[in-house]
Amino acid sequence: MIRMFHVSKNYEGGSFALSDVTLKIAKGEFVFITGSSGAGKTTLLKIMFGSEAPSEGQIIIDGRNYFKIPRAEIPYLRRRIGFVFQDFKLLPQGTVFENVALSLKVMGVGSIEVKRRVQKVLSYVKLSHRANFRAAVLSGGEAQRVAIARALVKDPAIILADEPTGNLDPHLAVETIELFKEVNGRGTTVVVATHDSTLIARYAKRAIGLESGRVVA
Ligand SMILES: Nc1ncnc2c1ncn2[C@@H]1O[C@H](COP(=O)(O)OP(=O)(O)OP(=O)(O)O)[C@@H](O)[C@H]1O
Ligand SMILES: [Mg+2]
Repeated sequence: MIRMFHVSKNYEGGSFALSDVTLKIAKGEFVFITGSSGAGKTTLLKIMFGSEAPSEGQIIIDGRNYFKIPRAEIPYLRRRIGFVFQDFKLLPQGTVFENVALSLKVMGVGSIEVKRRVQKVLSYVKLSHRANFRAAVLSGGEAQRVAIARALVKDPAIILADEPTGNLDPHLAVETIELFKEVNGRGTTVVVATHDSTLIARYAKRAIGLESGRVVA
């Protein structure tokens, strides 16, 4: 589902955020990306999402090579990927409903269908009672779940989640990973970046370890 060959990323003026990363994530797999702060986890996910271009190397997502498809087609490929951002990126003045609905509206989904799908996903993440709240007033854990709902509502083939438990207490962190496991159980490929080694130890899932931009485990 995701293949990377000798991918490096060199931010302008900086050192290598990723160095010669080669990896393969199968369809339907659940994988953790681990490593300390600055190891390159976010960079790796952004490259998988196509929002950052690698300095070197090749990426094949769902059988499509990012370099071989026209730039204009990347948004279409991205519809197949749900991204949960480390800092959520919610629209603070928008309601929970509006935040989750936005990507469907951009895709041209009709309003009745948007309503149906948003309600379903909000109920799934146990946030139906917050649908009309502005995102700005949510607790950290609630905002996190809105970010997850927004990724799930597209019914993506792949979920990329960047530190989705970073702002949660241990109990909610486990609940969040359970939610991703359930989504994974329905066939979605799930990639979770986290520095939380206790969380990884709880689950018998493959973990790709990064250190200074290199795969070390
Ligand atoms: N836009 C950027 N411009 C320059 N350097 C960057 C940029 N984004 C990331 N870096 C650098 O690339 C390296 C990897 O950063 P990245 O955000 O991928 O790490 P991370 O593993 O996600 O860290 P954290 O656990 O703190 O989120 C760091 O040294 C960082 O300073
Ligand atoms: Mg990060």
